[in-house]
Amino acid sequence: MPAPETSVYPGLSVTLPTLEQTSWQQLVTVLESNPDETTAPGFKTMIVASRTATGADARTVVLRKVDADRKYVWFHTDVRAAKVMQFEAFPDCTLLFWDEKSQVQLRLTVETRLHSNDYVADEHWQTIGPGNRKNYLSEYRPGSGQPGPYPGFPTHLGADLPTIDESEAGRVNFAVIECRVLTMDYLQLNRSGQVRALFQYEPDSKMAWLAP
Ligand SMILES: Cc1cc2nc3c(=O)[nH]c(=O)nc-3n(C[C@H](O)[C@H](O)[C@H](O)COP(=O)(O)O)c2cc1C
Repeated sequence: MPAPETSVYPGLSVTLPTLEQTSWQQLVTVLESNPDETTAPGFKTMIVASRTATGADARTVVLRKVDADRKYVWFHTDVRAAKVMQFEAFPDCTLLFWDEKSQVQLRLTVETRLHSNDYVADEHWQTIGPGNRKNYLSEYRPGSGQPGPYPGFPTHLGADLPTIDESEAGRVNFAVIECRVLTMDYLQLNRSGQVRALFQYEPDSKMAWLAP
């Protein structure tokens, strides 16, 4: 994929604090954009890499909430999913974002925390509509074997949305994963020179330029 054409190395015109601020702002902006827009920024989804008892695992999820001041991000999942067990056993994960337009990769190391039967999950549940809630109506655990293709919700619903009342049955399967960001590794690809920096928040706060 060709990098944007510029003649000046972008590393010359940016400071570490500005780079850090704009990176977080880029994540916040995703949540302000219309989810149906085809031009929605690339940071709308991320890859969550986790540890397992025997190796590693990874999957795509949708970014749901960002706190740029406290350095937290959140995503939603089915509480019965394999990843939830992995996070409980190994809370340290990596979140990987890539934005094609700005040619920026963000790699966040995080500590995850599960919210399923508490007010945090209740608050997030109130923010999602019937289309999204439909995913939590599955009678079966994600990843469980089925005798044939299974759509992930009761088959009688078909292409229809559940009513809000019907969708409430999905609440028991809904979980929020809170991610406390420990470090952010920033990389921007550019023909005139790449820019890479590390922002550390825990155990203490520091920032540094890195060789790409
Ligand atoms: C574009 C895209 C967005 C997705 N968003 C989510 C999500 O927000 N939450 C989620 O649990 N799974 C999401 N999935 C499905 C996961 O990638 C994964 O297949 C599923 O959660 C099972 O993962 P697990 O077996 O590791 O638990 C998404 C998949 C795609 C392709």
